[in-house]
Amino acid sequence: MRLGIVIMAAGKGTRLKSKRAKVLHEIGGRLLLSHVIAAAAQVVPPRDILVVVGHQAEAVQSAVRETGVRFVEQERQLGTGHAIQCAERETREYSHLIVLSGDVPLLRPETILALRDFHLREKAAMTILTAVPEDPAGYGRVLRKTPGEPEVLAIVEHKALNAEQAGTGEINSGIYAFERAALYSHIGRLQTDNAHRELYLTDMAEILAEAGERVVAIEAGQASEVLGANTIAEMMELDRELRMNLARRLMAEGVTIYRPETVILDAGVEVGPDTIIEPFVQLLGATRVGSDCRIRSYSVLENMTVGDHVLIQQSCVLEQSQVEKGAQIGPFAHLRPGSHLCENVHLGNFVETKKTRMGPGSKANHLTYLGDAQIGSGVNIGAGTITCNYDGVSKFPTVIGDRVFVGSDSALVAPVSIGEGAYIGAGSVITDDVPADALALGRARQTNKPDWAGNRRAQQEEARKRGGSS
Ligand code: UD1
Ligand code: CA
Repeated sequence: MRLGIVIMAAGKGTRLKSKRAKVLHEIGGRLLLSHVIAAAAQVVPPRDILVVVGHQAEAVQSAVRETGVRFVEQERQLGTGHAIQCAERETREYSHLIVLSGDVPLLRPETILALRDFHLREKAAMTILTAVPEDPAGYGRVLRKTPGEPEVLAIVEHKALNAEQAGTGEINSGIYAFERAALYSHIGRLQTDNAHRELYLTDMAEILAEAGERVVAIEAGQASEVLGANTIAEMMELDRELRMNLARRLMAEGVTIYRPETVILDAGVEVGPDTIIEPFVQLLGATRVGSDCRIRSYSVLENMTVGDHVLIQQSCVLEQSQVEKGAQIGPFAHLRPGSHLCENVHLGNFVETKKTRMGPGSKANHLTYLGDAQIGSGVNIGAGTITCNYDGVSKFPTVIGDRVFVGSDSALVAPVSIGEGAYIGAGSVITDDVPADALALGRARQTNKPDWAGNRRAQQEEARKRGGSS
């Protein structure tokens, strides 16, 4: 037995009313098609997966090329039956084919394996994966020869149902297994005599059954995993389902998630036990969070690596950066790509970092911008400090040694370096390197003019009196 998997992904997705091809829409932070490929790749190696592309073929191929699957083009989308006709040559090496839909993204590998095993055991020419969802509207229905028995007579599309057939709640998932020789020896008999003037793959059930071939159906374990995404609303239902499944899995692994229905978790996210996630948090991309952390409401983490015992206060935006054990961030902090906060760093309100490393125990607690900076350990960055890293043309680095104290409201004009243990007086504009252990002052000297304000008030009082008597 040689098994190949064909994924139909050439359709436009007219019901989405979108410029983008349907399979390029996302749920759970991943393309619909990527979910289907990931499930298929658990069953066969990527080179045995053939994706039928057509609408926006170039974009679809480049989006998933790195998975190692093969492609075949369906230049004009003349229906699901035609999509499988286009795959004939490219599937010659297989004895059996499993056909998946690019828009049925929650399908689990276990279910594909159950379909395969049932198909082989039944020695069927065609096996249809079915479900009995709460609302079967819009789906094709599977008509069995005898209720409860595996054999199928036909699949009838929703629009073609007669009154009697409309009572059938068993839907066609659009997922099938075929004995390849039987499929291609009869596929030429498909006709376009239907509502869409297309070649329907569903018609193969009746064609094969009438030719005396065995056509059977198996119901999926969970109806929700074979639901399709034909409209944005349906897609968002699947998105919710997928993210809730992930939240449930994390909670089962010891993560506390308050109001999980408000938390947005992407499919690749990992979180360690005893971490607490508050309502309205978003963990996106390949974000990894350690154990014993707390992520407070409205914080958004994208492609972040966060160690254990980290506190992320409310409303932080953290992207493509690394935060080590024991750090405390926010509220309202912004880590831009390439930031690296070592152990026990404190980063407070309205602090922004970019391509900046802060050594262990360093602090920047208020109103600060640190860009292209290498900061040592035990450094204190005063409120309102700015690294002036950009001269309008190029970016320059700032280097700050261990235990440096930067006074509040200092501007560090890069390229500049501050030696270990040095002090910067508050309000300084530092344009030259500072040696280790020095005090640098770069501001106007203060002068006090004794009695100046008192004298001025007296003069004003005098002038007012003269004005009043005239
Ligand atoms: C299809 C089934 C329906 C089933 C439902 C399950 C047919 C005729 N109907 O309907 O019985 O209940 O799936 O979700 O098959 N595609 C191509 N080339 C084409 C047309 C479609 O590759 O020419 C691809 C689409 O990109 C999509 C998949 O095939 O990934 C299914 O097509 P779609 O138009 O969504 O079929 P449904 O109307 O949902
Ligand atoms: Ca569909």
